Amino acid sequence: MNERWIPFDVADADVNPFAQWRRWYEEGSREVRDPEAIAVSTANLQGRISSRMVLLRTADEQGFVWFTNYNSHKGHDLTENPRAAILWYCEPLGRQVRIEGRVTRVSDAESDEYFNSRPRGHQIGAHASHQSEPLATRQELEDRVRSLESEFDGRDIHRPAHWGGFRLVPEHFEFWQHRKDRLHDRVLYDLVDGAWSLARYAP
Ligand SMILES: Cc1cc2nc3c(=O)[nH]c(=O)nc-3n(C[C@H](O)[C@H](O)[C@H](O)COP(=O)(O)O)c2cc1C
Repeated sequence: MNERWIPFDVADADVNPFAQWRRWYEEGSREVRDPEAIAVSTANLQGRISSRMVLLRTADEQGFVWFTNYNSHKGHDLTENPRAAILWYCEPLGRQVRIEGRVTRVSDAESDEYFNSRPRGHQIGAHASHQSEPLATRQELEDRVRSLESEFDGRDIHRPAHWGGFRLVPEHFEFWQHRKDRLHDRVLYDLVDGAWSLARYAP
């Protein structure tokens, strides 16, 4: 038994899944270099699913927020079909968290605030990159960066309208704890009539 696999019973779980998430996230943050790295899966209306990593920027009772290009593949999927699934894994503690829910765009003010906090190079990058579109050469991207650097020279860089945050508002959580002999612990939360219910599930 790896002593880092801490048994996880329904009785140990916070009745509030957001509080439970904070607990595991804080513990995970002491173990891994990029705890904010999450996989986000989206699907278009034809049911074609795709996943990618993004950085989780806020996680609270309002939802789970990441920032991206609204014209990207994920942006198009979420515009068509505003549902997504988040996956987080913390190998040293043998923990997985799955979160599913509806997705909305964050307010312009929230996107502005985050964009304005980013380093200038990231801000230029958000203008320069037509994320998820074909790019003939890397040179083309670097030329665009150079031309934007001179365009914005000596000026603040505004957030491009195509760049901003998405917020997943959870309806379902699963907290999975690795245990010996594949007898893992799983605690699932579901939002039913505005209240969270939780239960143990078989591994
Ligand atoms: C650890 C990690 C973090 C990433 N964070 C972001 C992010 O916060 N926002 C983003 O748009 N892309 C991020 N990316 C790049 C995405 O995985 C992806 O390549 C990009 O968003 C385009 O995805 P799409 O074509 O499915 O829209 C990250 C990649 C990795 C590996």
